[in-house]
Amino acid sequence: MQNFKIEKMEQKHIDEVLQIEELCYGAHHWSKDSFLTELNNKISSYKCITFNNKCIGYIGFWKIIDEAHITNLSIHPNFQNKKMAQNLLLNMIDECYKEKIKYITLEVRVSNEKAISLYEKFGFKSLGIRKNYYQDNNESALIMWSENIFDKNYKELYDRIRKNLIKYEKDNDK
Ligand SMILES: CC(C)(COP(=O)(O)OP(=O)(O)OC[C@H]1O[C@@H](n2cnc3c(N)ncnc32)[C@H](O)[C@@H]1OP(=O)(O)O)[C@@H](O)C(=O)NCCC(=O)NCCS
Repeated sequence: MQNFKIEKMEQKHIDEVLQIEELCYGAHHWSKDSFLTELNNKISSYKCITFNNKCIGYIGFWKIIDEAHITNLSIHPNFQNKKMAQNLLLNMIDECYKEKIKYITLEVRVSNEKAISLYEKFGFKSLGIRKNYYQDNNESALIMWSENIFDKNYKELYDRIRKNLIKYEKDNDK
């Protein structure tokens, strides 16, 4: 993780964020206005992971009472499969622990096997389907939920993931 940092998303990151959006989602990505609105939304938290001060991925979520709803998680294709998303998810869970948020939920395209398996790694389970949720191709969304992240079992899972990431980073900094 040398030269990588997780920081609050700010207006200065938006051009880099939009480049990643386009690479990840093609024509159907979020607009600049959507991100600017989210940065001013009191219930939102958006973080960037930066490499040499350039945003290479981001996560966003809404905090609603004791639930967090992930709205966006994207990593620049050149930096995928290097556990960047896992670092962002752990950072998000840390924020949930601090703010006493117990449950995490999200929607994911039924065809997005990689994202689904990433969320399963974090203990999220699919508890329903929103039919024809995505307007671009009418694809359905899986609704995934964590268990209570304050439960002992979840904390053990969190610790395991954190330990594996530390080992991965050590091995790759050699
Ligand atoms: C999904 C996404 C955020 C993952 O980011 P990433 O930084 O590459 O993910 P990580 O390296 O942290 O973790 C990847 C995990 O996904 C799983 N995975 C990787 N490749 C996979 C594949 N081809 N099929 C299924 N699962 C796969 C593994 O569980 C892997 O964990 P491991 O390396 O510990 O085994 C990234 O691919 C992305 O930005 N995709 C486009 C946007 C998107 O679909 N966002 C999710 C919206 S809900």
